[in-house]
Amino acid sequence: MNRNAIYPGTFDPITNGHQDLVRRAATIFDHVIVAIAANPNKAPMFPLDARVSLARRVLHDLPNVEVLGYAGLTVEFAKKHNVGVVVRGLRAVSDFEFEFQLANMSRHLERDIETVFLTPQEQFTFISSTLVREIAVLGGDVSEFVNPIVEVELKKHRRV
Ligand SMILES: Nc1ncnc2c1ncn2[C@@H]1O[C@H](COP(=O)(O)OP(=O)(O)OP(=O)(O)O)[C@@H](O)[C@H]1O
Ligand SMILES: [Mg+2]
Repeated sequence: MNRNAIYPGTFDPITNGHQDLVRRAATIFDHVIVAIAANPNKAPMFPLDARVSLARRVLHDLPNVEVLGYAGLTVEFAKKHNVGVVVRGLRAVSDFEFEFQLANMSRHLERDIETVFLTPQEQFTFISSTLVREIAVLGGDVSEFVNPIVEVELKKHRRV
């Protein structure tokens, strides 16, 4: 049986923390779909097609990883693609409460879907897309946190 997983998120933009998680997931599962949610209520800095394209370029060397955009419920997207496992990341205890609630809600909506949690290597535990965006907008150096391809795009949003 093939073990497939989706790794859903906003990826606005993809960070080295996300990348670390995808690379781990790619060694555990046969096929991993990085599922990028349109998430208009989060008012993303990058439009969906840009977030998808950045993630594809950053992850292009992984043959069993696919990047797709989606709108709507994650569990519906998973079902449509015949995937029974959702991968999420835990950086710190502060992630736990929301992730626990989300995992239980997903299971409530679709009982056959399991959520599994991965943790990144220590140096990525404090990286979030939100912080990276804020630093980049204020002209700070984000080269440690994102791929150079992403850094170039973030620089275009610098405001100071
Ligand atoms: N540095 C990281 N290490 C491990 N997991 C991460 C990291 N950043 C995000 N994740 C996980 O990836 C999933 C998708 O995250 P999401 O797209 O919300 O990224 P984010 O960095 O939290 O962005 P935002 O700050 O916009 O919420 C979540 O499960 C989140 O916990
Ligand atoms: Mg988040």
